[in-house]
Amino acid sequence: MKILNFGSLNLDHIYHVPHLVRPQETVLGDDLELVSGGKGLNQSVALALAGLNVYHAGAIGKDGKSLLEVCRNYGIDTQFVKCGQTKTGHAIVQVDSQGQNCILLYGGANFSITLDHIEEALEPFEAGDYLIVQNEINDVDVIIEKAAEKGMIIVLNPSPYRENITHCHLDRIHYLILNEIEGAQMTGLEDPRAILKAIVHAYPNLKVVLTLGDQGALYLDEAHFYEQPIYPVDVVDTTAAGDTFTGYFIAGMLRYQDVQEALKLASRAASYAVGHKGASSSIPSINNITD
Ligand code: RIB
Repeated sequence: MKILNFGSLNLDHIYHVPHLVRPQETVLGDDLELVSGGKGLNQSVALALAGLNVYHAGAIGKDGKSLLEVCRNYGIDTQFVKCGQTKTGHAIVQVDSQGQNCILLYGGANFSITLDHIEEALEPFEAGDYLIVQNEINDVDVIIEKAAEKGMIIVLNPSPYRENITHCHLDRIHYLILNEIEGAQMTGLEDPRAILKAIVHAYPNLKVVLTLGDQGALYLDEAHFYEQPIYPVDVVDTTAAGDTFTGYFIAGMLRYQDVQEALKLASRAASYAVGHKGASSSIPSINNITD
């Protein structure tokens, strides 16, 4: 079984600010970190730190070669990351004194994925292999379609949620992992349980995980419902906590073949990330969170 994560790679500028900037306001930041990020890269790092072999596919510009080094240092296979003329994607992340964040994203090279690139990256993978994809690259629907044709197990994290997700055949996906904001955008509903029910009612084969920040996470499939509380920590920086959860949930499913155990592992890992500064640099190794 092999794992391919087709996803974004970003240069993150993380500014620590007393509060998130409001319209027409200028705020002086206390601290700036320049780190590697992108929901795709962060999830690959989480999978690698959980002990799995990961292939990452995606695109950077010449200014983003450091991201390749970062991936390689974690043991991530980058043979399907293309380096082109477009600037590397980047994110401007504000983190306030409570550790909450907001993110402005520039897609850049992440949106230069071609059909040839998709076919080349998927070529070595077969039925039973995993595809993980987020929504920070172009042609997510095509990637899902091609992976489904091969019989791959598909995990979609539709983050950030945009209208293009409605073009994806969600009946071809096995796991949908999203947060409450994305769930509300997708269904038009506010109540977390109602969001889950609406999604599973529409797509009965889906296993859905809805993350709720400090309220933990909920899981629903046709036959099971589980609630997972958080492991409380002092909040330092919530950046990449969701990515850590996603990577570790998949790792937990592969390790334990059990949803409740996977939820616990993911929650432990996300709590660790929330207690540490940075994006990919805040993700724990499996040894930090297991006995
Ligand atoms: O989920 C956190 C990530 O979102 C950051 O690393 C940033 O690059 C944005 O993609």
